[in-house]
Amino acid sequence: MRTETGSAPASSALGAKFLRTRALSEALVRPLSDADATIQSMDDASPAKWHLAHTTWFFETFVLRDHVPGYALHDDRWPFLFNSYYEAEGQRHARPRRGMLSRPSLDEVLAYRAYVDAALADVLPDLPPAAQALVLLGCNHEEQHQELLLTDILHHFSVNPLEPAVWQGAPKVPVAMPGPVGWIEGRAGLVQVGVPSDSTFSFDCEGPRHQALLTPHAIADRTVTNGEWAAFIADGGYRDPRHWLSDGWAWVKSEGIEAPLYWRRDGDVWTRFGLDGRRPVDPAAPVTHVSFFEADAYASWAGARLPSEFEWEAAASAFDPASGNQLDAAGPVEPRPSTGGPAFFGDVWEWTGSAFRPYPGFRPVEGAVGEYNGKFMSGQFVLRGSSCATPRGHSRASYRNFFYPHQRWQFTGVRLAKDL
Ligand SMILES: [Fe+2]
Repeated sequence: MRTETGSAPASSALGAKFLRTRALSEALVRPLSDADATIQSMDDASPAKWHLAHTTWFFETFVLRDHVPGYALHDDRWPFLFNSYYEAEGQRHARPRRGMLSRPSLDEVLAYRAYVDAALADVLPDLPPAAQALVLLGCNHEEQHQELLLTDILHHFSVNPLEPAVWQGAPKVPVAMPGPVGWIEGRAGLVQVGVPSDSTFSFDCEGPRHQALLTPHAIADRTVTNGEWAAFIADGGYRDPRHWLSDGWAWVKSEGIEAPLYWRRDGDVWTRFGLDGRRPVDPAAPVTHVSFFEADAYASWAGARLPSEFEWEAAASAFDPASGNQLDAAGPVEPRPSTGGPAFFGDVWEWTGSAFRPYPGFRPVEGAVGEYNGKFMSGQFVLRGSSCATPRGHSRASYRNFFYPHQRWQFTGVRLAKDL
């Protein structure tokens, strides 16, 4: 591997980010057996082993194969296995059958990672700017998969009656319940939204920067807590169709939904399953694993509404996107009670009332990576912020996460807004 001494400052920083990103993924799977890393508990979730290989395929395909003459694929049968959804890259293994891939083994996938890492580290300082930009995209792509890897492991383990803990959590220290929500009066009129031109990295869907019109409104200074959510349940919130969108009510009825995902009533107390196993629900912590449908129903019950993504962005721009409870290293991750003061990053992604659609002037980039976001701009809602499973430094005020309105296996929560 080439040392970073003597390489251009930009590629040195990029090389450090590449190594740091690759190392964190492997640290996250260290507690897992080959079997743990192979199973797939639902179509939406992928095996940990698949995440490790797919993120490697991304670098191998779009950087090494396309920009390094003479690079030899690690195994020319594997792109079929580890291409996710890139039509331009041809046929691929069906997503719901990723859990059937007992071969290659976890060790073989880790060897694939080492092969690609060595090849890329060797050429990185000499790559043209366009290829270095793809390495940076690959690092940010892998950070997204680190969060998915954690939420997918959580789901895989949740369907095991033994409910194993991936990591032992720290003893819980009782924390005072947060006070009532404080309301921050938002900016009204025309505001600038979208990624600023001086940002070092952004995904294509975060731009172009443009103007948006905000009407008078206020936004909550914190997210909804488990204790507040328990009051919604106790008040019959899941049984009252007046609070629910028609599609949401149909989902609640057909799926028998009566609490956030991973919650269970044990006697008189609610417990929840997390990466540290099953524990009592902490009433002071932010509620998580709720769908857009649930978030919208809660807001209706609370006499409020969800913020628009631009109301959220206008308020959050004053806050440090690297602050709050986010992922720093392998270990238990879970939302934690607020330690005071308004916060817009960390703990839980926040559902907005905004559809995931292109901004004015949006154009997907040329080539296969143009499939990254644009083709998913149908039927999904935007979430803002970051969660306890988001690698710190990954998100920013303009970041647009997105999921379908019924999905809730991510660390998803709720912030309220209201008209003034
Ligand atoms: Fe991906």
